Amino acid sequence: MKLVVYLYLSMVVLGVQAWPTVKRSFELYPPPPTNVHTISDCMHVASEPGDYIFKKSAPSSSSTSSQPLGVLNREAATLLELEAGAEAEIAAAAAAAAAEAALDVCGLYVIGEPDTIVEITMKHYDVNCETGGLMAFVDGWELNGEYFPGIKDHHRPLEDRVFEFCNNYKHWPRISNKKFFRSSQNAALLQYRIPARGSFVANVRFHKITQPCNVLVQDTAAVYKMANYGHARNCTLSALFPASISLANLRIGGKIVRAQQKVNYDCNMFTDRLEIGGSAGLDAGAMELASAVCGASNEPGPEQAIFCGVTNVRLLSTGRYQNQVAVVVRKADEQDLDIATLMCAL
Ligand SMILES: *[C@@H]1O[C@H](CO)[C@@H](O)[C@H](O)[C@H]1NC(C)=O
Repeated sequence: MKLVVYLYLSMVVLGVQAWPTVKRSFELYPPPPTNVHTISDCMHVASEPGDYIFKKSAPSSSSTSSQPLGVLNREAATLLELEAGAEAEIAAAAAAAAAEAALDVCGLYVIGEPDTIVEITMKHYDVNCETGGLMAFVDGWELNGEYFPGIKDHHRPLEDRVFEFCNNYKHWPRISNKKFFRSSQNAALLQYRIPARGSFVANVRFHKITQPCNVLVQDTAAVYKMANYGHARNCTLSALFPASISLANLRIGGKIVRAQQKVNYDCNMFTDRLEIGGSAGLDAGAMELASAVCGASNEPGPEQAIFCGVTNVRLLSTGRYQNQVAVVVRKADEQDLDIATLMCAL
């Protein structure tokens, strides 16, 4: 017993002695450096703040056979200019190769918490326009030519959502290298096409906002609050997986619709409604509808499963009413087949 007490006491003493050291070392060390991430995949999804680094080196001089496509094409093009029209076949081949290289677009897909927007600062970039290099900031995500938020859903036209840039080394004076972008929702994309050598460092930060509208779902199980805050606006929640959806805390539509204190799942006739459905791609404008909901209820509603590549929940508001709903999203699997309300064609 004595031994145990002694041990206990010495631990306490040691613990007390250890404290000042810990505290001092904590004070001595500078704050941790910014998180640094190396981009390795062509489609790289990022949800953490920090610096994202991409670097593509020039091939070493020993392996001259593996020259980058862009350079070869340019040489071919120059050759053809000299012997104008002589070798049309090579021209066609070079054009095809150039088209193939152009397809090689990669992206840093940034996603934050639902109530955030994304800020990207280009700390550095060396992407030569001349060799076919190009970068673009996209306010949202783009996949296979489809956008989130959908083109019709965004308050900015597409031209204003995509900002392209590269280094024009022929231009003098050289313009400032630093660039700064902000998205309108929790999703943003930095696209890049670097056929020859090149590099960039993009700093990613997230900022809280108070009235989120379009939200890209990050978690495979979470509750999302959707509301119009009295505005005339359409907001979409998109999950990039088949999902089971249920609703709680629902208030959508005018007094008459809400009076019954129940959820109405057949509200196509009403201007203010919640649409639940799915689509094959990112564009929620092309979604198939499973149900259109309005009314009022505090009870959590039944679950329904949407078996599509993308699950969408859209809140349509005219601005006449204060609409709100809590959407419970969970990834759907085979066990949810009996609660399926929509199966998209594969
Ligand atoms: C919301 O969507 C509906 C139906 O697609 C459309 O008629 C309406 O103009 C949209 N409202 C806003 C504010 O974009």
